Amino acid sequence: MLSVNNNPRPPAAVSVPAASQAGDAGAPGREFVWTNADFDRVQALIYQRAGISLHDGKHAMVYSRLSRRLRDTGHQSFKDYLGWLETHDGPEWQEFINALTTNLTSFFREQHHFEIFANHLKSRPAASAWRVWCNAASTGEEPYSIVMSALEALGAKPNFVLTASDIDSKVLASAAQGVYRLEGLKGVNEERMQRFFLRGKGANAGMARVKPELQRLIAFISVNLIRDDWPFREPFDVVFCRNVMIYFDAPTQRQVLERIHRVMAPGGLLFVGHAENFGESRDLFVLRGKTVYERR
Ligand SMILES: C[S@@+](CC[C@H](N)C(=O)[O-])C[C@H]1O[C@@H](n2cnc3c(N)ncnc32)[C@H](O)[C@@H]1O
Repeated sequence: MLSVNNNPRPPAAVSVPAASQAGDAGAPGREFVWTNADFDRVQALIYQRAGISLHDGKHAMVYSRLSRRLRDTGHQSFKDYLGWLETHDGPEWQEFINALTTNLTSFFREQHHFEIFANHLKSRPAASAWRVWCNAASTGEEPYSIVMSALEALGAKPNFVLTASDIDSKVLASAAQGVYRLEGLKGVNEERMQRFFLRGKGANAGMARVKPELQRLIAFISVNLIRDDWPFREPFDVVFCRNVMIYFDAPTQRQVLERIHRVMAPGGLLFVGHAENFGESRDLFVLRGKTVYERR
């Protein structure tokens, strides 16, 4: 399993200031009362819905991210908000999940993966289409890096399709738009900037947009990695599942890995994040390089 965050279940909450524990007053400066019981409840709900194990050090992060949800939905306390959430199966669940995901990403993150990926693409005749899945795609830097690598390896009209997915609807919408601040494009060299991006002018100065030829190769869809309802019929040749399993506990990681194994073709490549290690799942994947596995 992965080398970090391997708690079998979400851990219990840590202590918070006495005023908060009492549940009848907020800590000084806090807009809403925030108790250990509130944190426990959030921890259980996000674990059930997204598989995310929030550890006790996340009190402040959870308070700050969910306070906005209380304001937007007009609730006066976490107790009321969470009680309402649990009894309503509406769109607020998506907002709740969006608020609690961590979406850090960048172009060509873990550069060596893209070199291995490009060489892998060149190893097969162009006749058969490459099917690639980038899950936990966040705001799109990773799927666009994948497509840039594919265009470089296979030529301008590649026999290649990429499915990019995430649980977070907000980042997925932003990924599909493909508009980035220039500061966020540091991992993209000048040659790639020229070939794959349009720089904004006037009111859009300081921004760049990916060219439509990249977007045409990607289908953006919502997929929750912990749900057994993935909409895939044909097997993938390559899967990028990077820097998301670190948020899951060991049993969840194993379940997700088994499902990924089921949707991959034998011999396919699985790229994982730098802190992720599936050594204990040798029955499914064999290590082929630094954080690169081959599907058995
Ligand atoms: C830290 S980002 C990693 C982004 C990208 N893969 C990378 O390595 O740069 C983690 C992403 O996983 C997504 N995520 C978290 N739980 C998920 C789940 N249960 N199913 C699908 N995506 C999930 C989050 O929304 C977030 O965008």
